This record gives sequence, structure tokens and C-alpha cells, in this order.
Amino acid sequence: MIPAIEFKNITKQFGNLKANDNVSFAIRKNSVHCILGENGAGKSTLMKILYGAYQPDSGKLFVDGKQQNFHTPHDAINAGVAMVWQHFMLIDDFSVLENVILGNEPISGIKIDFKTAQKKINDVITKFNLGLNPDDKVEKLSIAEQQKVELLKILYRKPSIIIFDEPTAVLSPVEVDEFFNIITKLKDSGNTIILITHKLREVIQIAERVTVLRQGKKVYEAEATEIDEDILGKEIVGDSSFEIASETKLETDGEKKVAILEKAGLSSGGYSKLNDINLVLRAGEISGICGVEGNGQNEIVDILLQLLSVENGTAELNYSSVSVVPDDRIKKGMISEYTIGENVITRKMGFEIALKAKLKKLSEILIKSYDIRTPDYFTPMGNLSGGNQQKAIVAREIENQSELIIFSHPTRGVDLKSSLFIHDEIIHVRNSGRAVLLVSSDLDELFKLSDRLIVLYNGQTVKEYEPLELKSRLKDAESFTVEVGKLMVGAGIE
Ligand SMILES: Nc1ncnc2c1ncn2[C@@H]1O[C@H](COP(=O)(O)OP(=O)(O)OP(=O)(O)O)[C@@H](O)[C@H]1O
Ligand SMILES: [Mg+2]
Repeated sequence: MIPAIEFKNITKQFGNLKANDNVSFAIRKNSVHCILGENGAGKSTLMKILYGAYQPDSGKLFVDGKQQNFHTPHDAINAGVAMVWQHFMLIDDFSVLENVILGNEPISGIKIDFKTAQKKINDVITKFNLGLNPDDKVEKLSIAEQQKVELLKILYRKPSIIIFDEPTAVLSPVEVDEFFNIITKLKDSGNTIILITHKLREVIQIAERVTVLRQGKKVYEAEATEIDEDILGKEIVGDSSFEIASETKLETDGEKKVAILEKAGLSSGGYSKLNDINLVLRAGEISGICGVEGNGQNEIVDILLQLLSVENGTAELNYSSVSVVPDDRIKKGMISEYTIGENVITRKMGFEIALKAKLKKLSEILIKSYDIRTPDYFTPMGNLSGGNQQKAIVAREIENQSELIIFSHPTRGVDLKSSLFIHDEIIHVRNSGRAVLLVSSDLDELFKLSDRLIVLYNGQTVKEYEPLELKSRLKDAESFTVEVGKLMVGAGIE
């Protein structure tokens, strides 16, 4: 059978760096194909070539057996290729319907037929069980729902090949299951799905075939039936010393309270955002917050950063300095046009111009100690791969030595090995006596790092597990995961 896609000797270079190096492989029609690889391995670059956003320097691309030279995404879309971007491009104060139509308007100025559009949209929502209301405003939707709107925009054009670049990085476990149900439906209705993820467990759950890229080269391919998690892990990293020994938790007394929120509440735009938050952050302790995204996490972080103030209850902030690894690295964490060094300096001194030599030295230290993969120290942050941008921001914030450090999804989009490294760094920070707030939708990460765990639902802290209780509950991680999973969606609250 003719494959849906075939890459033949694709090479793409940025300066001296080969982001894709003679890559050849095929993707079967109507299959779910996972592409794996470390941060900077070349996954997104290859997908951007397939989507017409980049042109290869050499090599050929075949779609449905036909050689294609896509010059723009428009060409790719016309050939049935669609891509769901990691960063949503929705307009917040438009409705779902308006957002979908906006991306698909007739170009020649023909009047939009809302009725037909509405029917078509409703049909897609029902067919794929997206559970969206076309009239809802996007600003009211959770991250998972916004992702569905992006998908809806694409499905409206009836693509045959859909690329998802790390869609699950922003989802909580329940939402991932839901997302995989949609993937299965898409496949059942004849689509070919390409999925990029760093989570091997997800690969094993959904993939039919996998391809591993390493430093731009294709190094491994396998059918789902032959996938072995250990082999896959080693192929991704490329050496046999894959295991990293993580630092263990320290027994700390956590006596010094650096922040106390009591019955804290706050509203915005007529909606209550927080209504009963009780949270104490202690020096030498990692407090984990778990919850489905959009349940008040960002507001708590903004209160701690003094960007928002509580309207009810009290917030006692006793720390002299605070650092944050923000949830949205592109919007809140960096200036894309600036280099790593400039991004560090800007954080430290405002927009003053720094000495070039100092910048170079500083950047090179961070690049080396945090293994940030970049062609050179003066590459703008916006041109780094997603995971490497994240590593640069984590490096900068940890190096800041603040009394309180907030990590919002610190390993989002970061590969396995670097995630373990960042986890070790977070433990170091805690062991050095600083207070840590960890916000994450990754339960494994929260369970591994938290000394204390708080579950957030609908702007309320619905449950707090004290250090001793947490430790004993984690002995049966499986049943604990189920319990916390329920609390996160508002079930099982006492
Ligand atoms: N526009 C660009 N200019 C310069 N270098 C680039 C550009 N786009 C990508 N690169 C470089 O190409 C390499 C591959 O990047 P790519 O985004 O494909 O990685 P990735 O496998 O998707 O990684 P991640 O898991 O972190 O998303 C990286 O070293 C990156 O810095
Ligand atoms: Mg990428």
C-alpha cells in the first residue's frame, strides 16, 4: 500500500546545525505514528517541513505517493495535511464558532454563511464527541477545551493527515484519556495521525509504530508490538548509561513559613476565581499543587508574585525575593528575539544593555551546566526547540537564588533525561533551605517531588496531604493516583 507520508533523505540545516540529517521513513495510511526524541532532536523541524512551514535543504517528501514541495502551510493544507500547534492561536473574546470560522473564511470576500457553518461545526462536535458548545467564549474554556477548539478548526477542513506536536504536555491524566479517545475516533474515520510526545507510557498506549530521532538522524523504528520501554529509552538518549540516580528527599522541619494564604478569595470579570484557598509555604519544603489546569493555579501564583491581591481572606507574604518558572514560557518567560544571556540579564537588571563578554560567559555556563542544546550562545531563544527554551528558563530562575521559587509545569515539553535533571535541581533548591511551590498536571512529578500535596478544584483547596500522611499514602501509588484523580475533577470531596 502507498504510505500516507514518505520522507526521503530529508536534510535541514540552521547555520552549522543539522536539525534533520538525511531522514528517511514512511508513515502508514490510517495509523497512529509516534515520533520520539530528546529536546532538539529535530521532531518539530521535520513536522514543519511536512506542514510547509520550513523547506528542506535537500531530500524529497511524498504525500499519498505524490512528491510534494510545500512552500507554505497553505499548500500543505490543500494536500490534506493539518497541524495542531502546541501554542494555541485562538482569540479569547471570540466564541468557539467565531474562532473556527475565522481560520476558515472564504478568501474572496464571499459572505460567511453562519447557518451552514454552525451546522457543519455541530456535526463535527458530535461525530468526534468533542463536548464543546459553539457559543461559548474561548476565555471561559479550560486548556483541554481550547485544544479541542484548535482541533475543531482543523477538522472543519476535513484533513486526512493530522500532526499533533506534544498535545498531551498540557493535559492532566483524565484529559489525556479523553484525548486518546478522540485520536481513536479520528483513526476510525480514516485519518492518519502523527503524534509527538515525551511520555513513553503514552506511546505504548496509543502508537502503532514509532520512529526515534537523535541529533537530527533517524536512529530507530519499531512496530507497537515490538516496543520495549527500556530499549526505546536508550535509543532516544543514545547511550546505555540511561539511568540517572535522583537525589532523595531530605527530612526537613519546614518550620519557617514564608507565605500564608488563609481563606483567600478573588474574582475577575464577574467570575469567582479563588474562593477558599488555604496554603502555607515553608522554607526547606516542596509544596505541590495538583489540579486540572484552570482551577486557580495561575491566580495563586499571581498572588505570590504580587501581581494580584486577595479580595477576601488574607495573604501574608514573608519572603524577600521570589522566582518563577511560568506556565506559559513563550508569553511570560522570555523575549523570543533575545539570546539566552540577554534573557537572563533582562530578568536581573531590567532592559539595561549588558557587557557582551559577561553575557557570553554567563550564557556559556548555563548552557553547559543545564545541557541546553543550541547552535551557539547568541541564537535567539525563539529559535531553540521547545524543551531547550524551558531548560534555559529553569536555569535562569534557579540561578537567581530567591527565597521562594515557583515552578509551574517545570518539565512541560522537556525530555525524560532533562526532566530527571530538573527534578534533581528542584530537590537541590529545597535542600538549600529555600521554599518551593510546584504546580504541575503531571501526577508522577508531583508525587516524586512534593513533601506536602494540595489538591485544587474550582478555586478551592479541597484537600491537603501533610508530609507524613503523603509519605505513607505514596506506598500504594496506584490507589493514591485514583483518589487524587477523583479529587481533581471534583468527585470524592468530603
Ligand atoms: N528557526 C530556527 N533557527 C535556528 N535553529 C533552529 C530553528 N528551528 C529549530 N532550530 C534548531 O534545530 C534543532 C531541532 O529543533 P526542533 O525544534 O526540531 O527540536 P525538537 O525535537 O522538536 O525538540 P523539543 O522536544 O524540545 O520540542 C534545535 O537545536 C533548534 O535549536
Ligand atoms: Mg519540538
